[in-house]
Amino acid sequence: MCGIIGSTGEAASLNDLVEGLARLEYRGYDSAGVAVVRADGTLERIRAVDGTASLKLLAELTKDKSDGYIAGLGHTRWATHGRVTTDNAHPHFDCSGGVGVVHNGIVENFRELKSELEKGGHVFTSQTDTEVIAHLLEAYLKEGLSLKEAVTTSMSRLRGAMSFVAIDASDPKVLVATKRMAPLIVGSGQGINFVASDIPAILGKADCFYQVGDDQVVVVSPDGNRLFDLFGKAVELSEISVEWDLEAAARGGYQDFMSKEIFEQPSAVRDTLLGRVNEQGEIALDEMRLDPEELRRINKIFIVGCGTSYHAGMVAKYAIEHWTRLPVELDISSEFRYRDPVLDQQTLVIGVSQSGETLDTIAAMKEATMLGAKTLVVSNVMGSSMARAADAVLYTRAGPEIGVAATKTHTAQISALLVLALYLAQVRRSMYASEISEIYSEMFRLPEKIEQVLTSDAAIEEVAQSMVGVKRFYFIGRHVGYPVALEGALKLKEISYLPAEGYPAGELKHGPIAMIDSDAVVFGIVTRTRLWEKTISNVEEVRVRGAKIVLVANEGDTESIALGDAIFEVPQTHPLLAPVLDVIPLQLFAYHLALSLGNDVDRPRNLAKTVTVE
Ligand code: M6R
Repeated sequence: MCGIIGSTGEAASLNDLVEGLARLEYRGYDSAGVAVVRADGTLERIRAVDGTASLKLLAELTKDKSDGYIAGLGHTRWATHGRVTTDNAHPHFDCSGGVGVVHNGIVENFRELKSELEKGGHVFTSQTDTEVIAHLLEAYLKEGLSLKEAVTTSMSRLRGAMSFVAIDASDPKVLVATKRMAPLIVGSGQGINFVASDIPAILGKADCFYQVGDDQVVVVSPDGNRLFDLFGKAVELSEISVEWDLEAAARGGYQDFMSKEIFEQPSAVRDTLLGRVNEQGEIALDEMRLDPEELRRINKIFIVGCGTSYHAGMVAKYAIEHWTRLPVELDISSEFRYRDPVLDQQTLVIGVSQSGETLDTIAAMKEATMLGAKTLVVSNVMGSSMARAADAVLYTRAGPEIGVAATKTHTAQISALLVLALYLAQVRRSMYASEISEIYSEMFRLPEKIEQVLTSDAAIEEVAQSMVGVKRFYFIGRHVGYPVALEGALKLKEISYLPAEGYPAGELKHGPIAMIDSDAVVFGIVTRTRLWEKTISNVEEVRVRGAKIVLVANEGDTESIALGDAIFEVPQTHPLLAPVLDVIPLQLFAYHLALSLGNDVDRPRNLAKTVTVE
């Protein structure tokens, strides 16, 4: 997740470029930078690295530099490859300093391209994957290709989901951009043309907006925007109709951040999975900082986390134990360090934290380090306190999450933890390589399946509206359906303020079933996992006691569907991956019920996004 922008034309200015970047800040703010072609034909680069204040610093650094602006590129970074440093901040240049690139996404095969380019004499100045694009362009330009041809040829050699914009100072008014499975649009206004990650960046400055399709190349120049396919054939621009005002645009046109983030889950999961398999088809977690030998010595794992992160950790417990046969203990962070846990140098403690700043989890990880264990953190925030302190780190790549109720970071956490579980199985040889790659391939189908789940939004909204007035909700599931039940209940509590409890379905008969009557609504997670039959029996037990039943079931599963008063259908997947899909209808339900109750879904009462107190 990064934000990219470019502008050219007689009305284009450096101020507009920087302002556009500020509107892309939600896509990342580890650093910010611009590259500007001046009237004298030079390409000037200004980069700012100051954490969340990077954009403010960039605005200051560029304040008096507007004169002689011909065209330029801008970038706001959410670091994936290479630490947060000035050298790694975008734009990146080729050896000559005449070609500049801003990039969003990941070049999966950058290592092999980098070594090829280095052999050809190119000198790299950053640790990013992006820089290979600048040098590739340089190589093709030297062969006599135009910038458009160089971008097209380079794109055919780059693997992964990405978008990038390039500029060549020797043809100063022209920008060339392309994309694959990453957002990119172009816009045109009076005497100005733009390319950007999204519409809000240029809203109010451009009058018309156009789509760029996957593997298409767009040439943005003062005379207009021209689109081409990968074979260089011209393609007609298709206009996007935009009716947002600026405030709505900050939320990408969504009513609130929570719905935006729920709908960003396909890309949050996809980005988290990308770039984690090497050329041999093996899982490669290079950034993790723990070597395979150390991981082979581990004989016990603890997972710690709070709230939604704890629920993601619970899913991971099932997967790690099943795939690696390593024992896994799971703890709420605030309990862990006060219960005298038994751990030593052969224990791995995994902290799960979206922010990487939750005090309870920081303290739990410190305790683990003190007792000699190895620590690994799964976090969404590059360079967060936990990421810095842990022995190892695995980042989710969900992009910034603004809504207090975690949604996209939860499914990204589960995805990252499942990759980690498979990696442990690979390193410890507890699974066949073919089994691992089969499951990994199924994981790559998840983003598409999430899209499918999201199409039920309107139907779920209707069910939610019909439940205004219900006073008590219960969520039940077994095996990996249990953490889904807990998360469904937590989401509902957080934003609807109603009593909602999650239970392991088999536990109801030991007490909680006494609360069931015709005023209760029970959500059953009954997707087809190993314990489906048993969960269905538990659903029957509450149905006969008068509860209204809502089921999360697999599409076309008529046996399950027959038992529900309302059904949220999800596609089938590998049973251990099912929570990524099953939780989404429950997020949507909580969202719509809270809205129907008139609550502020982004800022629920009494809660904070990051809890830095004990
Ligand atoms: O940043 P963290 O993942 O460590 O935060 C942990 C919890 O505070 C967080 O998941 C909280 O439960 C959310 N509000 C859930 O929506």
